[in-house]
Amino acid sequence: MRVLGIETSCDETGVAVVEDGAVRSNVLGTQTDLHERFGGVVPEVAARAHVQALNPLLDEAVARAGVGFSDLDGVAVTVGPGLVGALLVGIAGAKAVALATGAAFVGVNHLEGHIWANFLEHGPPLPPYVCLVVSGGHTMLVHMPAEHRYEVLGQTVDDAAGEAFDKIARFLGLGFPGGPALDRLARDGDPHAIEFPRAMLDSGDYDFSLSGLKTSVLRYVRRAREAGRDVNPADLAASFQEAIVDVQVSKTIAAARELDVRTVLLGGGVVANTRLRERMQKAGAEAGIDVRFPSMALCTDNGAMIAAAGEARLARGERSSFDVAADPGLELAS
Ligand code: KG4
Ligand code: ZN
Repeated sequence: MRVLGIETSCDETGVAVVEDGAVRSNVLGTQTDLHERFGGVVPEVAARAHVQALNPLLDEAVARAGVGFSDLDGVAVTVGPGLVGALLVGIAGAKAVALATGAAFVGVNHLEGHIWANFLEHGPPLPPYVCLVVSGGHTMLVHMPAEHRYEVLGQTVDDAAGEAFDKIARFLGLGFPGGPALDRLARDGDPHAIEFPRAMLDSGDYDFSLSGLKTSVLRYVRRAREAGRDVNPADLAASFQEAIVDVQVSKTIAAARELDVRTVLLGGGVVANTRLRERMQKAGAEAGIDVRFPSMALCTDNGAMIAAAGEARLARGERSSFDVAADPGLELAS
């Protein structure tokens, strides 16, 4: 099956063609420059930029795949969660392509897309899995006992991991989005230089809390300044990152053990983090658990993951109505 995937839930316009689980083309229009001066994604600016970017990217994705629009069997699009105005642009584009070509149309959950990015590179789904989804908007542990069945084990009670990375990076003057810059800076730092609190590490559940860590970092810097002490930014970045990674690794492995699941899947933009990848892989090896994650380009938002998730749903005979609307708070339902 040849499926076009469209992703416009936040600040990346992603369009891709996936055929039988393999990426044929995957193009991206990033809006970082537009949002940088605001220090965060401005929803209205994002929606307008998607409008401008979408049609040329649609042409490019199809051309790079070496096919025409009439060769598409399906069209998949992110319907939520995300920014409503941004989602609507992709949904309108996807409906137009499906209507014009007669291709089957299906709406996809963005978080399912992040999980499905794994199957583009590691073969088709063979559940059960424990999945850690960590992005700019989400931090959650999910049990997938069977294909397309999801049980949320826990999630953040306040900030998402990516949001925490972005806020601390902004505080350190690293620009936007801050995750990748903070990751780079942390490579030169000592992760044990400052022992920040590991929130909810021993809470006995699978929930996360990140806003306290953010406050601890700010307080640490203020106190150091007041005492006339220099703070090494690389040590600060590495120690902050370690505190986040510690809790994520520990809870993910604990969930896999408790559920007796042998394979963990990671998904979402924060999975591009070098330290998280390293530590997860090491902890998995020690626990005899297979930890898998997508290559860097497929961790952050892209159209291929949506096409992949859509292809699996279309293959089961699932179709969405053309009445389907954007759902900013869409849950990862069972
Ligand atoms: O999945 P994604 O592209 O968009 C959302 O669905 O939110 O995730 C974006 C988030 C941003 O917060 C960004 O700072 C973070 O992922 N991120 C990283 C890294 N690369 C992207 N965080 C930490 N380390 C990275 N290398
Ligand atoms: Zn995402």
